[in-house]
Amino acid sequence: MDFFRRLLYALVLLLECVCILSVDTNGQTPLKPEDGTASRNVAVIGAGSAGASTAYYLRRFSDLAGVPVNITVFEREAYIGGRSTTVNVFDDPSLPIELGASIFVSVNHNLMDTAKELGLKISGAGGDRPEESTHMLGIWDGFSFIYLQGHSLSWWDMAKLLWRYGLAPIRTQSLMKNTVNKFLEMYKPPYFPFSSLSATVQDLDLHKATAVTGTQFLETNGISKSFSDDVIQSSTRVNYGQNLGLIHGLEAMVCMATDGAVAIEDGNWRIFSGMLDSSRADLKLNATVTTIQQNDDDSLTLSYSSNGGSISSHTFDEVVIAGPFQYSNLEVSPSLERIPDKIPYVKLFVTLFASPHQISPAFFDLSDQKDVPEMILTTLPRGMDLGSREDGVGPAGFWSISLLRIVEAPAEDPHQKHYVYKVFSPEKLTAGFLASVLGVEIPEPDQNGTVGDISRNDVSWFHEKTWHSYPYEYPRLTFEEIKLANNMWYTAGIESFISTMETSSLMGMNVAGLMTNEWHDKLRLGKPVSWSGWTHQRNSEL
Ligand SMILES: Cc1cc2nc3c(=O)[nH]c(=O)nc-3n(C[C@H](O)[C@H](O)[C@H](O)COP(=O)(O)OP(=O)(O)OC[C@H]3O[C@@H](n4cnc5c(N)ncnc54)[C@H](O)[C@@H]3O)c2cc1C
Ligand SMILES: *[C@@H]1O[C@H](CO)[C@@H](O)[C@H](O)[C@H]1NC(C)=O
Ligand SMILES: *[C@@H]1O[C@H](CO)[C@@H](O)[C@H](O)[C@H]1NC(C)=O
Ligand SMILES: *[C@@H]1O[C@H](CO)[C@@H](O)[C@H](O)[C@H]1NC(C)=O
Repeated sequence: MDFFRRLLYALVLLLECVCILSVDTNGQTPLKPEDGTASRNVAVIGAGSAGASTAYYLRRFSDLAGVPVNITVFEREAYIGGRSTTVNVFDDPSLPIELGASIFVSVNHNLMDTAKELGLKISGAGGDRPEESTHMLGIWDGFSFIYLQGHSLSWWDMAKLLWRYGLAPIRTQSLMKNTVNKFLEMYKPPYFPFSSLSATVQDLDLHKATAVTGTQFLETNGISKSFSDDVIQSSTRVNYGQNLGLIHGLEAMVCMATDGAVAIEDGNWRIFSGMLDSSRADLKLNATVTTIQQNDDDSLTLSYSSNGGSISSHTFDEVVIAGPFQYSNLEVSPSLERIPDKIPYVKLFVTLFASPHQISPAFFDLSDQKDVPEMILTTLPRGMDLGSREDGVGPAGFWSISLLRIVEAPAEDPHQKHYVYKVFSPEKLTAGFLASVLGVEIPEPDQNGTVGDISRNDVSWFHEKTWHSYPYEYPRLTFEEIKLANNMWYTAGIESFISTMETSSLMGMNVAGLMTNEWHDKLRLGKPVSWSGWTHQRNSEL
């Protein structure tokens, strides 16, 4: 026994010597375990939710660990936010509207907490909507509205719901809550920080929801097909551009978790901008990282071009790739042992426009303007099953059309009201389609033209964007690795699990947690961080 203990002691001493020696011979700053003065140089590629959150939480965790950290964030675009960004109606900066991610919900702790901490104005989603119509929401199947809802869920709406769908709405609500509660465990120890998403999903029993389609998951849980196909599917279509026969059960549940839907008044990207400020990161915009070179001493050298021109390079201790690998155009050398799989992403067309006209009742076979719902979602007609087809839009031809707000026109016609709408569709809108939605006549040759071919009198402003918005959420059991190589981290594997601003933020925070753990456990830098202490402190700050 004594022998073993002495052997162990000798081994520990030997390992420590080897460790210090190997660092010294590389000519680097020796790692100092006790005084913790050795600083870590971290690069984050991407200034969206994941990248900004990585920087923000890394600053906090490194403070707790007592390890100085130098954070540099590279973003190829000229703006912060990635898929969360705004454009201005009439190019007027006082009229920003979301072009990408528009809402988050009250259980989204990272976004909620930071928005409060940064003192940003949080408003109820759709708060700018005028309520000129009788119906807040309608679900269109390409032929008729199969569901309409007023501005508040009155006893009459409730009675109609129960009469049509029985207990399905209530069952869905409790299934959703149950699922969300399991997910929330991921923010706390013993799960947080998790080194394998696949294992954590399994441990939390969430694989039962991710392994099957929405259709299967809802059926297994006793939710009627009519409620699933009419109502739940309209939500998976507006949120993810996919039907229940494709999207997995967990993401279908996320679509029903709409309690306390909110947005940041001047744009959700302000959360990420605030996070970056607070992280004191050196932010480089218009900076495209092109290669990551893995060096023998486990450091990583990034090459990046600034403003599309000059190439520079810089060496870091750690690198976080904070966006989908397949769209980052990064070359890693020597090549990674396992490159993240290329997965299919939804190609989503977003059309924002302003018009003095409202959506025409005639387009939807309605007689009165007041009957046109402010938010029009779509589903497939009863009896039509497009299974897991990616081109699943069906007879409706679009995913959603919603009225965002009413604005006053610029100088020329100051007293005219203009209605601002957002359309999600799988294809670019034609002039003919939009003209008939607005009930205006356009010349025959323009029918197949683009939105820009419509007269300024009818469409006073527009902005179009094609996004690779989120993955097709096919059922799956395993998710991409979080650690791609020594000191190289990856956030976007979480998008095949749940693709939202919050989950990207959670993964950014998780990577920051894993990195901080390694500093202590592997490099003997700083103090260990107590994750339960941190969770507790965080919850009591609110
Ligand atoms: C139209 C639309 C609607 C959506 N609606 C919602 C919603 O209502 N609620 C919600 O929560 N989510 C919504 N989402 C999803 C949400 O936007 C994303 O899940 C989330 O923003 C992803 O954040 P991210 O940081 O992981 O990735 P991204 O936002 O894509 O950020 C990655 C960043 O990395 C940068 N980058 C990539 N490669 C390089 C490189 N080589 N060098 C430098 N920079 C690089 C990119 O320019 C980008 O800014 C929506 C998305 C879209 C498109
Ligand atoms: C921090 O990193 C930047 C690279 O972006 C480098 O120029 C700077 O010298 C570093 N600062 C410290 C204190 O290491
Ligand atoms: C980024 O590029 C745009 C033009 O593409 C330019 O207007 C902007 O000033 C640049 N920003 C920075 C920080 O270089
Ligand atoms: C518009 O396109 C359709 C097919 O995409 C075609 O049948 C029709 O003739 C075209 N109309 C005009 C005016 O070009």
